[in-house]
Amino acid sequence: MPTENDTHESVLVQPAPPLGRTARPRRLLMCAPRYFDVTYSINPWMAPEKPTDSALAMTQWKRLRDVYRELGHTVETIDPLPGLPDMVFSANGATVVDGRVFGARFRSVERTAEGPAYLSWFRNNGFSDVHWPDHINEGEGDYLLVGRNLLAGTGFRTDRRSHAEAQAFFGIPVISLTLVDPRFYHLDTALAVLSDDEVMYYPEAFSESSRKILQELFPEAILATEDDALVFGLNAFSDGQHVLISSSAVRLTGELEERGYEPIGLDLSELLKAGGGAKCCTLELRSC
Ligand code: ARG
Repeated sequence: MPTENDTHESVLVQPAPPLGRTARPRRLLMCAPRYFDVTYSINPWMAPEKPTDSALAMTQWKRLRDVYRELGHTVETIDPLPGLPDMVFSANGATVVDGRVFGARFRSVERTAEGPAYLSWFRNNGFSDVHWPDHINEGEGDYLLVGRNLLAGTGFRTDRRSHAEAQAFFGIPVISLTLVDPRFYHLDTALAVLSDDEVMYYPEAFSESSRKILQELFPEAILATEDDALVFGLNAFSDGQHVLISSSAVRLTGELEERGYEPIGLDLSELLKAGGGAKCCTLELRSC
């Protein structure tokens, strides 16, 4: 029979219960920044007069790719095309759910040719259900899957009418969210999916009514500060356990650790000059 003391002591030495984060191996599509540069400005981050360092951009991108592979994910690549300096941001190339490909149709003329380029990659790589969209949408820049719900951004890039089109195509619920701060022009600059039911986001990037929706859906979400949002801390990729995140997003990194995630800090400063980070360089190829 344990004495009262024993019981007390055993409570004190109990380790904290593990949070049980588990990674699910992913199949990802990336595009090397061979022609990366900032030659035009379509978001507030892009200053064509500022020099870019293409060798450094390549080194930073390769590090991201290698970390994915070291974690056991499959990384496929699409050939970059000259004259398309933003093609490195493969997240914008399409949205893929259940092996079905919803193509991207870009708002700016500078990126228009990327839509068909990405779609042909899919057609040539065994994807038969490929949809050329009616409405403007910038792929996973504005479409983020959480469990079986597709969060959908609008306000700067993706046309709201695309949300109904995506819902009809995928046959899953699409939840529209309106972005209001031009620095966070894509949904994936303001919100990151961490697991099938967890997200982190920067509330001020959203309209009042979208904030209410997010609060309702994710009452436990990690809320980012402006500092962390401004270093693109929300442009992060999670496999359910590891979170690849800007190494400058100090507070978010701490919060992720507290919740049992394993943040992996990355420096993607060159790509930030175009308004992109880790998640922008990553397109998830979800099979059935
Ligand atoms: N310069 C690109 C643009 O403005 C950056 C795209 C970043 N991609 C993303 N998924 N947020 O379109």
